[in-house]
Amino acid sequence: MCGIVGYVGKQAACGILLEGLKRLEYRGYDSAGLAIGAKDGLDVIKKVGRVENLIRAAAGVKETAHTGIAHTRWATHGRVTDINAHPHVSSDHKFALCHNGVIENYLAIKKFCENHGYTFQSETDTEALVNLIAYHYQKEPEAAGKNRFLTAVRKALLHVEGTYGIVALCADYPGEIVGARKGSPLVVGVGNGENMIASDISAFIGRTQNVIYLDDGQVVHLTAEDFDITTIADEAVDPVIAKVDWEIEQAELGHFTHYMAKEIFEQPVALENAIRGRFSDDQSTAKFGGLNIDPLQLRHVDRLLFCACGTAWHACLVAEYLIERFARIPVEVEYASEFRYRNAPLDKNTLVIVISQSGETIDTLEALREAKRKGFRTLAITNVVGSTIARETDGGIYQHAGPEIGVASTKAFTSQILLTAMMALYFGRLRDLSFTEGREMVEALRLVPGLTSQVLDQADKIKVIAKKYAQFEDFLFLGRQAMFPIALEGALKLKEISYIHAEGYPAAEMKHGPIALVSPECPSVFFAPRGEVLKKVISNIQEIRARKGPVICITSAPRDELPEDLANDIIRVPDAHEAVQPILFTIPIQLLAYYIACERNCDVDKPRNLAKSVTVE
Ligand code: AGP
Repeated sequence: MCGIVGYVGKQAACGILLEGLKRLEYRGYDSAGLAIGAKDGLDVIKKVGRVENLIRAAAGVKETAHTGIAHTRWATHGRVTDINAHPHVSSDHKFALCHNGVIENYLAIKKFCENHGYTFQSETDTEALVNLIAYHYQKEPEAAGKNRFLTAVRKALLHVEGTYGIVALCADYPGEIVGARKGSPLVVGVGNGENMIASDISAFIGRTQNVIYLDDGQVVHLTAEDFDITTIADEAVDPVIAKVDWEIEQAELGHFTHYMAKEIFEQPVALENAIRGRFSDDQSTAKFGGLNIDPLQLRHVDRLLFCACGTAWHACLVAEYLIERFARIPVEVEYASEFRYRNAPLDKNTLVIVISQSGETIDTLEALREAKRKGFRTLAITNVVGSTIARETDGGIYQHAGPEIGVASTKAFTSQILLTAMMALYFGRLRDLSFTEGREMVEALRLVPGLTSQVLDQADKIKVIAKKYAQFEDFLFLGRQAMFPIALEGALKLKEISYIHAEGYPAAEMKHGPIALVSPECPSVFFAPRGEVLKKVISNIQEIRARKGPVICITSAPRDELPEDLANDIIRVPDAHEAVQPILFTIPIQLLAYYIACERNCDVDKPRNLAKSVTVE
């Protein structure tokens, strides 16, 4: 949700803020705005639509201001209008505020401020907070040695219920920015004679790689030369400066038309990064450096509970099949948002594992916190070093897939399912998986980057198929066993970037209702890996064909087991170890969704209503 940027330093702020917003636009793109601390007060420009609109509107901004904040919005409270765009300004024109999150008690705060003479222009919860800060500022006497701006922000936040990541300017304090977080991410960029703050590193990665991740309940005060972090209760915090582990070039589009395409084709590299240094040949197993849990303790784990959202939840479903198959540990999978409130009874020897590309999804973060509150040991698989989930879990595995900018998750997903296959190997070799079986899995998993490249070599063929099906308005995706989650993922990919209605089902489930949807206007995508249920899947395909339903079949079976005329279109992927198949079968559905969305002229990297990281519940 929402992208926030703040800059204070020696250079003109406006251009730096706009560049930062462009890099954060994948987080939300309903409207954008900026505020700069000019000599005669605060200059604020804000516009509905993409950052490009704001860049045009800001063309005349004075380049004298060296302090500013900016925001690109994913609307929560209030329609998408210029007035509702951030930054919001207090009615006394003293403060400008950008906010990511939801203030649950904003109506009470708004009423309080109105009773004290503050007026409102917008429909947002954020405007209540900026006026409350102004109220405390007016009420707060000058206190020796205390920064009145900082004190007013702190006092106002003590009354807020809900979540926030905020950056604020005060007209009386030029050259200063105050930021604070509770539930929505904020990271400080420590530069040379300049300091930055943003929702994520990509906003300023080109200016510094020294960062400080704010924790919930922390407040930061920035000037060009200094930064000071305290808790909201004004207790000192000793900040840790971390080094970002990737370069700005990795977040650039390069020669690709869309980030989604770039990230689909980056998968061989991303998957290589996931396995690098993580196999033990002499023990025929996987090895992870950051689990922070003793192997003997893992032996006593008798259930795994996976929690996540969206595509990451599909990765959990793949994990369930692979870990139960190879490690023989019972696995449960829960939507993170459901786990938090379902209050399911759990055995004390349950290990809770969350998966999150961004490491900031609030539903997943709160599920992690709920598990920890109940005393469960936790692990996390995440792609963003220093993300909130990475910092709050007991242990975990970094994906090292590089920044994923496209809203539709691709390389992060295949990286996640590869890592869960490696977890299945690791847990299995702690139990009953033999040395030989372990070695077979190690050898198979090492081949994944190369096999993925082979599937990507079929991109042009898949593009031709996509053109044939781009105008259909309904799709079914059907697979059995570990291909069922891939069917769900295929449906989600198509839905979220082409706006076509698509559903994923276990293939056998068709007969129990969904087959009523089958017609010449409703294509079905089948996953038919070589293996024990291939013949069953072939029967399911024939049931659909008998009802004139068009069929696209992705298969690793040879032609003598799955003939060319079985389906309208066939995409063949290399035959591979059972633990590797989900990855190879994912690539074609990513490409199919991408090329269909392009054919329909959809906004592939910024699909309507979506955002890359969902930090509101
Ligand atoms: C996937 O294509 C979607 N963008 C969405 O479902 C995403 O997977 C979900 O929001 C979880 O995000 P996370 O992995 O960053 O937690």
